[in-house]
Amino acid sequence: MAIVSAGLAPLPTTPAASGVLETLAFLRDRDFAQARFERYGDVFGTTLLGQRTVFIRGERAIADLFAQGDAVEGWWPASVRNLLGPLSLANRNGADHKARRRVVGQLFATVALKRYSPAIVALVDELRQEVQQATAPLALVPKLRRFAFSVIATTVLGLDPVDREALFGDFEIWCGGLFALPFALPGSPYRRALQARKRLLARLGAVLEKAQTAAAAGMPLNAGGLDLLAGGLDEAGLPLADDDVAEQLLLLLFAGYETTASSLSCLLLSLLQHPNELAWLHEELAGLPWPPPPGEAVAAYDALRAPRLDAVVKEVMRLTPPVGGFFRRSRQPLALAGVLVPADRVVQVSISASHRHGTGDNDLELFRPQRHLAGEPAVTMLPFGGGERVCLGKALAELEVRLLTVGLLKHLTLELEPGQDLTLATIPSPSPKQGLLVRPQRSANLAAAVAVP
Ligand code: HEM
Repeated sequence: MAIVSAGLAPLPTTPAASGVLETLAFLRDRDFAQARFERYGDVFGTTLLGQRTVFIRGERAIADLFAQGDAVEGWWPASVRNLLGPLSLANRNGADHKARRRVVGQLFATVALKRYSPAIVALVDELRQEVQQATAPLALVPKLRRFAFSVIATTVLGLDPVDREALFGDFEIWCGGLFALPFALPGSPYRRALQARKRLLARLGAVLEKAQTAAAAGMPLNAGGLDLLAGGLDEAGLPLADDDVAEQLLLLLFAGYETTASSLSCLLLSLLQHPNELAWLHEELAGLPWPPPPGEAVAAYDALRAPRLDAVVKEVMRLTPPVGGFFRRSRQPLALAGVLVPADRVVQVSISASHRHGTGDNDLELFRPQRHLAGEPAVTMLPFGGGERVCLGKALAELEVRLLTVGLLKHLTLELEPGQDLTLATIPSPSPKQGLLVRPQRSANLAAAVAVP
């Protein structure tokens, strides 16, 4: 789309000769973008590690970006781009990208989620029992990370616990390289991650092959969703090659793991830090069944049946979005909220700053779930992104968070271990630095249930 630059404001730009100081500030300061938005407005330019970057926030600039079509393309830092691989839909654009979204999207349709929910319910019960039996303070973050990984590995890939374990070790090594400097020096996290990538793709290829052999022999498939990918076609209408599908599966592990684990730990942290809101949520949980009635898990705790839970999840996603921002690259000059953005800029959409900036509510720094029950809050909410690259796993992530919150909190009272550091590490996703130490106490509810002969 050609744009007419007349009438557009020039891009306000921070003083940044080399970008080194800006990069250090970006890595250290959680409010890096927020502070500069206050100073320069909703669209500003800077330089981060030699890369000319434009930050945007707010309804108007983001809507303008989503309307750009082919004038923008997906962009990831080199480490992420290389570790995801050239076939990954995250690194594709246009018809290529659309075709793979169509194929992978089948894994998250309602019918697929229905199939997955018994496995998620079982994983929630397993986690609750583990927490319940702890006799010393327990760090929840590692447990929640393991849970989030198990959900994707069990539901989408259909792996049993042994295969899941084998995949997990390499996956953690691979994740360790995602936001490292992309230099493959011997022993560096990035190099180890590249090696882990090879092993992961080989394992994912073997999982696919096993599923295909089972299907060809007319044997029942594993409990996962891989059969839903059968018949998937690329942009030319040809079947997707196995190495192509394996890279999409690797993307799903990446996209769905850290993000969901972060939302779970931030949700539990926020509730434990706000006893009044926890008590308010408990009033609703008391009226909800656990486990959900067979076949009804997908809708049992939705916004209609569990509006307070819905409001809590939204508020956690607003204040501590697992993905703080996402990127595009401008292929042509763009007009964003009346500002001219030159071609060949990385545009970073700041989700976190957009979630804290509005005109109506003046308490946007506070955790107040009730704001979501009184109509839409006056902020742009986009925890799952938007436009052509909106999150593919949104429905699975939401289901997982709801099931875990009800399954864990309905029958378990948790207390924060005193004296721990509850501040959040922010990269790659917000998570309590010390692992969120809790002490379990059985709730009266469960004690009564257990006491009944
Ligand atoms: C609370 C959890 C999650 C959050 C907050 C989240 C957030 C996001 C965001 C903001 C994007 C957009 C990135 C962009 O525009 O470049 C995205 C993309 C994506 N997400 Fe999620 N996500 C979550 C969970 C999941 C899960 C569970 C899966 C699948 C297992 C998943 C799969 C994907 C995929 C495949 C994309 C890439 C879409 C594309 O490039 O077309 N996400 N996610």
